[in-house]
Amino acid sequence: MSFRVYENRLNMVEFQKLRLASGFEPLESGRLKKALAASLVRLSAEDGGETVGMVRVAGDGAYVFVIADLLVRPDRRGEGIGSALVNRAVDLISEMLPSGTWATVTLVAASGRESFYEGLGFHRIPKGEVGCAMQAYVRGTKQP
Ligand SMILES: CC(C)(COP(=O)(O)OP(=O)(O)OC[C@H]1O[C@@H](n2cnc3c(N)ncnc32)[C@H](O)[C@@H]1OP(=O)(O)O)[C@@H](O)C(=O)NCCC(=O)NCCS
Repeated sequence: MSFRVYENRLNMVEFQKLRLASGFEPLESGRLKKALAASLVRLSAEDGGETVGMVRVAGDGAYVFVIADLLVRPDRRGEGIGSALVNRAVDLISEMLPSGTWATVTLVAASGRESFYEGLGFHRIPKGEVGCAMQAYVRGTKQP
């Protein structure tokens, strides 16, 4: 089976479908739209007109980059789609950086997926002088 990775073709419908297929809660359309629009990079893996995987890069485009929403349709896992998406995302980040400069690319691995990302050049933190990643859940208060 073959697939190709495309930039900026992913739409809200396919994003939601991939979320649901991977067991995530649906996101309301306004947030999906905002997430896609604000992404530095949005990639889809497509095969025969069907979207079989996605990944997004969020950040400031200067030195903060976050890989999010790596999702491969369950029936298409193990074909190299996830790694192709992450590798392309990292290449595109590299192209945003002035030659010779460095930036960190951060992601939160789902439990059990760490070795997948290690195979793609990511390392676990804490490491050396870098402490643990930290997370907080923040409840929304904005009125409609
Ligand atoms: C994790 C996920 C993106 C992997 O995508 P994929 O297309 O199946 O991965 P690939 O086919 O590119 O696999 C690349 C390598 O990683 C390995 N790998 C795949 N899933 C793995 C996992 N869960 N844990 C460890 N290694 C894994 C593969 O065996 C393969 O190794 P190889 O190169 O030695 O053959 C996919 O399983 C998925 O969408 N899962 C549900 C959503 C999710 O967890 N997303 C990540 C959130 S952090």
